[in-house]
Amino acid sequence: MATTEEMNEMYRWTRYVYDLTRKYYLLGRDRLLREMELRPGDRVLEIGCGTARNLIRLARQRPDVQCYGLDVSTEMLATAAAKVKNRGLESRIVLRHCFAEQLDHKATFGLDEPFDAAFFSYSLSMIPTWSQALDAALANLKPRAAFYVVDFWDQAGLPRWFRVILQRWLDLFHVHHRPELLDHLRELDARGVGKLTLESVAGRYAYLATFRKS
Ligand SMILES: C[S@@+](CC[C@H](N)C(=O)[O-])C[C@H]1O[C@@H](n2cnc3c(N)ncnc32)[C@H](O)[C@@H]1O
Repeated sequence: MATTEEMNEMYRWTRYVYDLTRKYYLLGRDRLLREMELRPGDRVLEIGCGTARNLIRLARQRPDVQCYGLDVSTEMLATAAAKVKNRGLESRIVLRHCFAEQLDHKATFGLDEPFDAAFFSYSLSMIPTWSQALDAALANLKPRAAFYVVDFWDQAGLPRWFRVILQRWLDLFHVHHRPELLDHLRELDARGVGKLTLESVAGRYAYLATFRKS
């Protein structure tokens, strides 16, 4: 598990230009926000929320849902909190410092009930203990609620040179496509834990996964 210090080191300066620079290569995030199945009154959690870019969009798109975000980096959370305040969304977006692997809706957010939906946007690819993060997400969702994932895939539908350059670049940020993660979700589906649906974003640049709990 990466420490808060390690994550702060990574984002101490980049957090100021994060949203601007990531706009061009964290593809599929808006599609995930649009496609999440939400009902009025739902509580939605982003795990690894970074600068709260997604939560702010979601809060604006869906004034009828309550948003929650957690992140391990206190530097990212400071930027997120400032943006949320600046946009007057403090009552709609609750942010907490927490490891994805240690999520507990009661202890982390003071909620008596689990979440109605959760999502990981380009966070699982930088969490080595991703299976614990998935377990924690499942444990903190209501029955028949879903978690969603958008993250780098294998770029199989794109030119080889592009794939090689992208993957070398991502290595610099300790970001990795993890085929075993999708295998794990398929296995959970086969065991009846939930139902997986998987879609490609831009020639398998990224994937969009929905895992609905049984
Ligand atoms: C690539 S950023 C993505 C931020 C945001 N989800 C987005 O789409 O713009 C990944 C985020 O995951 C956070 N993160 C990494 N490991 C984590 C962990 N174990 N628990 C919680 N957050 C984590 C990082 O601090 C960072 O803010």
